[in-house]
Amino acid sequence: MFKLAPSILSADFSQLAQQVELIEKGGADLIHVDVMDGHFVPNISYGAVVMKSLNGKTSLPYDVHLMIENPDAYLEDFVTDNTEYISVHVEACRHINRTIQHIRSLGVKPAVVLNPGTSLATLDWVLADVDMVLLMSVNPGFGGQKFIPSVLDKVRELAKIREERGLDFLIEIDGGVNLDNVKDVTDAGVDIAVAGSAVFGAEDIVKRTKDFKDLYR
Ligand code: DX5
Ligand code: ZN
Repeated sequence: MFKLAPSILSADFSQLAQQVELIEKGGADLIHVDVMDGHFVPNISYGAVVMKSLNGKTSLPYDVHLMIENPDAYLEDFVTDNTEYISVHVEACRHINRTIQHIRSLGVKPAVVLNPGTSLATLDWVLADVDMVLLMSVNPGFGGQKFIPSVLDKVRELAKIREERGLDFLIEIDGGVNLDNVKDVTDAGVDIAVAGSAVFGAEDIVKRTKDFKDLYR
């Protein structure tokens, strides 16, 4: 079952709750929360306070994507009743196994993220411990970038490994996904697609969300 996780990075923050209402109405499955610290990535977005401002205003689960140095120090801040996944970059974690265990101990599903230039081999010894693997299809830091097509081979390779090992983590993709390429990514093996500008940049956000979901009916 295909899931859509619109990224609020591209939302109008002056009316965030209303924007989230629109994607919920359109049938979005998760809210993708992009947290950037200006160190791990060359941009600062927002932190847990902004995410928590949506508590009680939506029933959608949060899919938290931490693009920050030293994520261990901030994990607790992102735990709410809505938090389903917390994703950490392998490039930012010195002790990735410990961080995964830490996330799970907080009652949240752990996920790991790879930048476009990072090999799948870095995940060899953690794949059995995570609920999701997020493959970046842009270099993280900004919304509205162009999809890097080589990630499709990476998705296929990861899906093959998942099958060979009999594992059941989900595969998510993030960056440059739009209505024209979303079928390619799901055909390759993606379960959850993040879309920021392609959803919140639309004139009619409810309709655009529905358009994504309708491709899979
Ligand atoms: C990139 C973020 C993405 C981004 C997606 O650093 O992790 O989630 O906001 O935005 P689009 O869909 O516009 O590429
Ligand atoms: Zn993201």
